[in-house]
Amino acid sequence: MEMIIEQIKLKIESKSLVVGVIGLGYVGLPLAVEFARKGYKTYGFDTDPNKVNRLKNKDNYIQDIENKVVDQVIEDKLLLPLNEFDAIKECDAIFISVPTPFTVNKDPDISFIVSATNSILNNLQKNQIIILKSTTFPGTTEKYVMPILEKNGMKSGDDFYLAFSPERIDPGNKVWKTDNTPVVVGGINEVSTELASMVHNVVVSIIKKVNSPSVAEMEKLLENIFRSVNIALVNELAQLCDRIGVNIWEVVDAAATKPFGFMPFYPGPGIGGHCILIDPYYLSWMAREYDFVTKFIELAAETNEDMPYYVKNMVIKEIAKQEVTLKTAKVLILGMAFKRDVDDLRHSPALKVFELMLEDNILNIDYFDPYIPSIQIKNKKVVSINEINPEIIKSYDVIVITTDHTSFDYLMIAENSKVVVDTRNACKKVENATNIVLLGDGK
Ligand SMILES: NC(=O)c1ccc[n+]([C@@H]2O[C@H](COP(=O)([O-])OP(=O)(O)OC[C@H]3O[C@@H](n4cnc5c(N)ncnc54)[C@H](O)[C@@H]3O)[C@@H](O)[C@H]2O)c1
Repeated sequence: MEMIIEQIKLKIESKSLVVGVIGLGYVGLPLAVEFARKGYKTYGFDTDPNKVNRLKNKDNYIQDIENKVVDQVIEDKLLLPLNEFDAIKECDAIFISVPTPFTVNKDPDISFIVSATNSILNNLQKNQIIILKSTTFPGTTEKYVMPILEKNGMKSGDDFYLAFSPERIDPGNKVWKTDNTPVVVGGINEVSTELASMVHNVVVSIIKKVNSPSVAEMEKLLENIFRSVNIALVNELAQLCDRIGVNIWEVVDAAATKPFGFMPFYPGPGIGGHCILIDPYYLSWMAREYDFVTKFIELAAETNEDMPYYVKNMVIKEIAKQEVTLKTAKVLILGMAFKRDVDDLRHSPALKVFELMLEDNILNIDYFDPYIPSIQIKNKKVVSINEINPEIIKSYDVIVITTDHTSFDYLMIAENSKVVVDTRNACKKVENATNIVLLGDGK
């Protein structure tokens, strides 16, 4: 066994391993907190001074982490949030969890990875273990990260170790957390894979080792493309069901009784968040270099991105049935976050539905989301209404449920609305209601 493996093993056992996490967002902060609460000194690096200051003041901003845990690790000086990167020199293992967005043309933007890697380069020490966690296209670790880190003459796999290990965190998921969700690890050589696995093993119980960073990078994209394609399939079938008079929700629930070979996916107003919407495009972009068209990815994206238009048309139809016009109708959107019970607004389809309705001259639109106090719509700030109650619900001509937060009282909503456009089957427990227009129910 290589000496470095023995050294890291000892450091893990004696809790003297020092960890660094670059990028303290939805992925990085939970990871940093996990290491810190296990007793390892953990530096958290972020370029956003606001995030660093909030953490220093024990002001937790990630909903899934308990405030008292953040309080404790800051109090115990186990989590050390920083804007400066010098302390990278002290770390044995450094994780990179910075954003990987796309450009306006939907091409990958790996500039955050490049800048985080440069911060490491300036402080790189012999024997450090670097682990990229940001979702990206196959080849990023070896073709972009590795050459930057080798600029000052150190050799990867020899002087320092490098691996890719995708993140699987599912914000809002009460069952699958960091410690019980298996992780995939692919290093640039065997020793890198081993070291990155050992470090992960401090906070995660099951590790799947693969033969290269590219396998791990591609694996993550497969997971997200799988979801995107299956959601698109059911979204397409929901539209067909609306025409042929069959309820897609009943269809999916019936199919889900098959104990093998089927996994239920449900229709909705479109997809959002930082992952499923963006990641597939990383692969389509890369495929073009190889004269390859990723038809499934593009078709799925097209279908999913069409859903907010479909929902907007459902609302217009409901307005047309009433005595109001588009200009005078009052519409309330319920749920602005991209999915249930989270405070993440990124690429939320509800934003798109709002914008599309405005473009079609529906001028009186409000929204309510206890997790999202305000949004920007066409460069204007719109603030969530404070609450919903029977009187407030009655004052709208159409209620649109775009996100099915569990805190909403769906019975109260259904009982007091003129009409509810339900894109999530959130009102499924409300019996005998005639004012619910459900996406894909075939009525
Ligand atoms: N959010 C999820 O549920 C999720 C799940 C799996 C994978 N991922 C992937 O993980 C990565 C991070 O996503 P996220 O949701 O945590 O993003 P985020 O925007 O919540 O957090 C990223 C953080 O990185 C910081 N940052 C940006 N550039 C930096 C730099 N050069 N140095 C230091 N800090 C920098 C930002 O200020 C921000 O705080 C992305 O690649 C994403 O696709 C996200």
